[in-house]
Amino acid sequence: MPLLPLTQLLCPIDKSELQQDGNTWRCQNNHCFDIAKQGYVNLLPVQNKKSLDPGDSKEMIAARRDYLNSGAYQTLAITLADTVNNLCSGLSDVGILDAGCGEGYYLNAVCEKILETDINLTATGLDISKWAVRSCKSRNPKLNGLVASNREIPLPDQSQDIVLCTFGFPVFDEFKRVLKPNGHIVMADPGPEHLIELRSAIYDTVRRNPPADISAALTQGWQLSNSINVSFTTPVLASAQLEQLLTMTPHLYRASREGRERAAQLRDLAITADVVIRVISQSDNL
Ligand SMILES: C[S@@+](CC[C@H](N)C(=O)[O-])C[C@H]1O[C@@H](n2cnc3c(N)ncnc32)[C@H](O)[C@@H]1O
Ligand SMILES: [Zn+2]
Repeated sequence: MPLLPLTQLLCPIDKSELQQDGNTWRCQNNHCFDIAKQGYVNLLPVQNKKSLDPGDSKEMIAARRDYLNSGAYQTLAITLADTVNNLCSGLSDVGILDAGCGEGYYLNAVCEKILETDINLTATGLDISKWAVRSCKSRNPKLNGLVASNREIPLPDQSQDIVLCTFGFPVFDEFKRVLKPNGHIVMADPGPEHLIELRSAIYDTVRRNPPADISAALTQGWQLSNSINVSFTTPVLASAQLEQLLTMTPHLYRASREGRERAAQLRDLAITADVVIRVISQSDNL
């Protein structure tokens, strides 16, 4: 089955429905949003931007794309795709939103798995970084691309079956608003030992990563319905790949100058990936 285009969007200014008119989405109050030549729509109003170029930079996105394309995190992509595919079994039409999609590696892997079935799939990559959404569109032009914030998702209430949020910034109220009653939030976050070798080189004191806080999600009938630990060792990474890994994580910016210099010396090193996938669902849907 092919991936389907989005048919419903909300105006970020007044929340009314947008109608597509050629290369423009327009609301009843005549707010217009053009479809960029790469095929995505920018629905981030200037007044909602905290910086001129919000989210991950062009360099971070390029580093993440190159690193993930090497296949070093394929084990995670496969487990994520299997998890989402299982949640979709029995459905004929599925909407997936990747909230903070980055350059689209995981969303694309999930879609490839689901497209092996008969499901009609509408998949949307949303990110506050235009570089991320551009890269996501070039990875797979059939993915819908939205520049927007997780804080104000320009999609109607109860329009999605899955909200994916990998290494991201969850806004649970918004995720729940856009999910159908039987929908699920699927998150992937660093486990305790994630990137321990890299962090040991960068920081003088290394702590085990604390679990990502999902307490805000576990309210009003929502529960943790599944938790999967995905731990593996990457192939030996050459210095260029280690540099990409460093550029795509927040560690580069948190590190001291000495820490960055130590990290720059690293080469030919296998790295521990330790990730926790969690599924959050409505209790009456378990
Ligand atoms: C660590 S990256 C993860 C990207 C991707 N999910 C992955 O796993 O490869 C976090 C992403 O969230 C985006 N981001 C940051 N704040 C955001 C927000 N408020 N709304 C949507 N995306 C946001 C960044 O631009 C970046 O692409
Ligand atoms: Zn409007």
